[in-house]
Order: sequence, then C-alpha cells, then structure tokens
Amino acid sequence: MTELSGSLLARDLAVCWHPYTQHLGQQPLIPVASAKGAYLIDADGRHLLDAISSWWVTVHGHGHPAIAEAVAEHVTNLDHVIYAGCTHEPAVGLAEDLLRRLPGDLSRIFYSDDGSTAVEVALKMAVQYWQNRGTPRHVVVALEHAYHGDTIGAMSVSARGLFTTPFHDLLFQVERLPPPESPECLPALERLLEQRGNQVAVVIVEPLVQAAAGMRLWGEEALQAIARMVQSHDILLIADEVMTGFGRTGPLFACERAHVAPDIICLSKGLTGGVLPLGVTAAREPLFEAFLSGDRRHTFFHGHSYTANPIACAAARASLRLFDDASDAQRTMIGSVHQTNMAEIATAHSVLNPRVLGTIAAFDLAEPGGYLSPVGQRLAAFARERGVFIRPLGSTVYLLPPYCITADELASIYHMLHQFLESQ
Ligand SMILES: Cc1ncc(COP(=O)(O)O)c(C=O)c1O
Repeated sequence: MTELSGSLLARDLAVCWHPYTQHLGQQPLIPVASAKGAYLIDADGRHLLDAISSWWVTVHGHGHPAIAEAVAEHVTNLDHVIYAGCTHEPAVGLAEDLLRRLPGDLSRIFYSDDGSTAVEVALKMAVQYWQNRGTPRHVVVALEHAYHGDTIGAMSVSARGLFTTPFHDLLFQVERLPPPESPECLPALERLLEQRGNQVAVVIVEPLVQAAAGMRLWGEEALQAIARMVQSHDILLIADEVMTGFGRTGPLFACERAHVAPDIICLSKGLTGGVLPLGVTAAREPLFEAFLSGDRRHTFFHGHSYTANPIACAAARASLRLFDDASDAQRTMIGSVHQTNMAEIATAHSVLNPRVLGTIAAFDLAEPGGYLSPVGQRLAAFARERGVFIRPLGSTVYLLPPYCITADELASIYHMLHQFLESQ
C-alpha cells in the first residue's frame, strides 16, 4: 500500500461512516481512485473487475464517454432548478424516452432521488389514489423475503428481519404473502382478495428476482398469476424494478420479460447508467387523473429538493440511448457465459441452488449463518487478492457485471470462484 492510499484509509476511518458496514473489526476498505469500463482502479493503480456493477448500478460500464459528455454539458448549461413550477428539456425528454420503452401503458413519470424514494412515492401515490377517489383503502400487500429499500415506508413493505428489527415498532403493518415461488403464495393471495379485496389498496413485488434477500429467482408464471388476480380486483400492482430494470434479466425490464403490465413501476440504480442518483415512479393515466381536482387537497404533496435534477436526467437519457443491438448482444453473451460456467460450478460439493437469469448468476454456499455468514467476507478478500471485486450477501454468491465485460473477463471471475471452492 502506498503512503497516499494508506493516509486516505486513515482519514476515512477517522471521519466516515459507511453503509451496511460494521466498523468494529471491519474488512480493509478499498481506496478507489478511478473507474473505467468493467474495472475499479485503486489508489495504487491495481485493477479490480467490478463483478457486481458497484451495488447493481453500473450498466454499460464505468466512465462511458456518452454519459460523461451529457453530464458535462448539463453541469454548465443547467445544473439544477426547482421542479415544482418549472420544467426543462432533460426531464421531459427522459419521461418521453422512458415511456416509449416501459412495459404496458404507463403514461406519467414522477421523479425522485433513489430506489427507496421511488418506492415511497409509489406507495403514497397508491394510497392517496384511493383516498382521492372517495373510497379509502389502507391494506398494503407485500411478499415474504421482499426488499424495497431502507426508508421507513420502504422498510415497512420489506420483509421483517435482520435489517428491520430495530425499527419494528415504527413500521406500518402489511399483509405478508408467502414467498412467490412457494405453492402457498397464490392461494394465500386468493384468500386475501376474497375476504378483504375491497380494502386492499396495492400489492408490491420485485418482479422475478428478490435481490437483496439473496438473488432469489421466481417464475414468470407466478408473476403473471399475481398480476392477473390483483388487477382483476381493480387493485393496484407496483413492480419494483429498481434492481431488475435496465436489462438485468435480459430484456430492458423484468415485466417485459414476463409480459406483465403493472400500474406503477419503480426505477433507479441503472437508470442513469449508474452515474448519478435518480429515482422514477411511473404510473398509468387513471392514477394521475385521480389527483386532478378542484379540491387542492387532492394534490400529490410529495417532492424532493433534487427532484428531476437536469444533470441526472441528461445522464439517464444518454444511458437509455446506449441500449442498442450491441448492448442486447453483450447481455446475451453474459447470460450464456453464466449458463456454461454455472453448470461447472454446480458440481462443487459446497454449492447449492445455482441459478441464472439474464445477466444475473448466483449460488449459495453450504455454510450456516445466512447474511451474517463470514464466508462471504472470506470470499470477497480472496477475490480481491485476485483482482475481482465481489460482495456476497453472506453465504449467497452472485455475479452481476456491467454489460461491457468481455467473455474472457467473466470467465476469469469464474476461474477465481473455482479456486476458492477448491480451497474450501
Ligand atoms: C428492489 C429494490 N428496491 C429498492 C431498493 C432501494 O434502492 P436505493 O438503495 O437506491 O434506495 C433496492 C436496493 O437494493 C432494491 O434492490
């Protein structure tokens, strides 16, 4: 370690507090100086392959020139302006571009800051929709193992567990359905809708992948069945595509893959290509119409200081344009390298439940402890020594690379995983 990186780490330890980090006995931080393509470059010039797209945000690769150019142009042209009472080309243009590509008949874009706020907006929109129509409904339905973010509303719809325990008394109650891949899920939803359907405001799901819970995959048919049941009762369906959006499952959106048309969709993470924070909650027209009223109390009183920040919107527009045939081909390549290599990984005795969906690959290690299992940190340290950056969810190992990664680079990550599995 150079003097420069050593001093950065010491300064960090003195003044910073990191997310999802137990600072007592923590693993050494990586001093990242720059990032390019699929690589993070540390302060000593070492390259690390970013196998998790920097917490699932980077899509095309770090430092993409088209996004950098859009950001640079807007920093000097229009850095920021309040979005209540004002408008601007980046926000309107992004809304138009997104609506052309979103599944179903979504027609309105509401901006916020990140995945959690996109979910908060969706929940508030859904509840006030019923209120404004004069038929208030307050039952919110969510799935076991869900993760929708870390703000109080998003935590309320997330599964109760390790991340939420200290806050249980503060969280609002939801009707919790069994895990979507279990045979009990659909019958439980059916019973709920029969008994209390007219009290249910909204059902929220992470389509096809419950990511933070350990990259738990679930089926298109189950998603279609949930959508059918919910929407045939005129209940609103929120698809939280904060993680699955922007090509992670193959097509641009998981709902597109499953041919499901939600009433509300939440986006963030890959929205700006992973360059700037931005959240989107897209809604169908009847939702928007329910807020049109001579009674000003029917207004959606929600907003954030940086709502529709022009620089972030411009980055998102530039990122969206990069989803072309070449990007489709890259994602297909990633999926097939995953499939081939996962078949081999699956033969290791400590590997359980190997799974692939689109650009996402995951498996579990036969180790106790779940999210708190130390094996994930051991593997992350092993990977780092071999030039790969991963961050297992405890005993769940996953790869979710930026789309610019080459087949050889991805194969080298699997090679490292093989070495680790053999060393166990
Ligand atoms: C499905 C889903 N929803 C919401 C969030 C929260 O997003 P953010 O971390 O940007 O607040 C996440 C984050 O991982 C997520 O995976």
